Amino acid sequence: MKYKIKLSRKILQQLEVYPELETLSPTLIKLDANENPYGPSPKVFHAIMEELGHLHRYPTKPKCLLEALAKYASVKPENIILGNGSDEILEMLLKAFVEPGDEVIVSTPSFQIFQKAARIASAKVKVVKMLEDWSWDIEGILKAVTPLTKLIYLCSPNNPTGSVLSEKEILKLSEAPCILILDEAYWEFFGKSSAGLLDGAKNLIVVRTFSKAFGLAGLRIGYAIADSGIIDDLMKVKVPFNVNRLAIAAAKAALEDIGYMERITRIIREERRKLYDGLMGLPKIKPYPSQGNFILVDVSKTGLDSEAMAKELLNKGILVRNLSDLGGFQGSFIRVTVGKPEENERFLRSLKEILEGLSDRRV
Ligand SMILES: Cc1ncc(COP(=O)(O)O)c(C=O)c1O
Repeated sequence: MKYKIKLSRKILQQLEVYPELETLSPTLIKLDANENPYGPSPKVFHAIMEELGHLHRYPTKPKCLLEALAKYASVKPENIILGNGSDEILEMLLKAFVEPGDEVIVSTPSFQIFQKAARIASAKVKVVKMLEDWSWDIEGILKAVTPLTKLIYLCSPNNPTGSVLSEKEILKLSEAPCILILDEAYWEFFGKSSAGLLDGAKNLIVVRTFSKAFGLAGLRIGYAIADSGIIDDLMKVKVPFNVNRLAIAAAKAALEDIGYMERITRIIREERRKLYDGLMGLPKIKPYPSQGNFILVDVSKTGLDSEAMAKELLNKGILVRNLSDLGGFQGSFIRVTVGKPEENERFLRSLKEILEGLSDRRV
């Protein structure tokens, strides 16, 4: 390495590189990243092919997509902003609203990208732990609000617990004098969104993605729905051409085939039920009910920690998320994405074999 003078910011010493995925063997069953195993509507492929002839041009204002999204979310186009994945929207929110030293509030265990981006933005991150049943400590969150608090970030359905906030809880939180970010990456698997509350809760921003129910994770496109004043602020910090032509064309085509997405999410919900029942039938394993396309599983009683359990499953060709690096847990937890029926069956069978192997070793 030639780079000798240390010019990087101090905060970088505390940050880890986000582990980028290796190209995986096609035989591996990938249940680690809450992706949609069915992929997008066939109409998406056609739209992408049509767009290929324009790749030498920068994207233009995605008016048609904004209109289609406005219809999908029952709002106006001026209430919507697009991001290079919803991750980018979370970063825009920090750029637009947080000065160094300002406070943000998050709950744990939850999706961590916002927390990391907040630390990079020199915000003070206040963490409020979820309650034992994976509901939110609403009073605790409200008590953590001070005059310096700019943003509260919550995720519902929450990754990885699968729990959801009630309308009453959201309205109560939205009375705090700061912006309430509701990450609804998985709302289609639940079926209810909070976007309808935006009329009454002006400081609410609902962040969503095409990566999950619409099966477009590889194209990186997300969006946020909020009061047009918040959207105007975000537009000022957005980098130009942040969403590429193929993603715009794909998202538009995906919205033209809502029926496909609804069919797929119905199948995933049904598979989620079967996977949960299967896990409930295994000894020493504790799954939690989930409204997302994943299930949180407590493996503490098996005698293996989550890292060892994930390794055992990997040896059997199944990739799950070991949650040992995620704050807010007591015990050992893994998260398994709901896959196709045959993948879920393989996962359950493999887990059963691992558990049987463990009890044989103990005899
Ligand atoms: C809660 C939550 N929000 C956002 C994302 C990222 O979405 P995107 O692919 O749109 O950046 C994820 C991805 O796993 C997630 O779990």
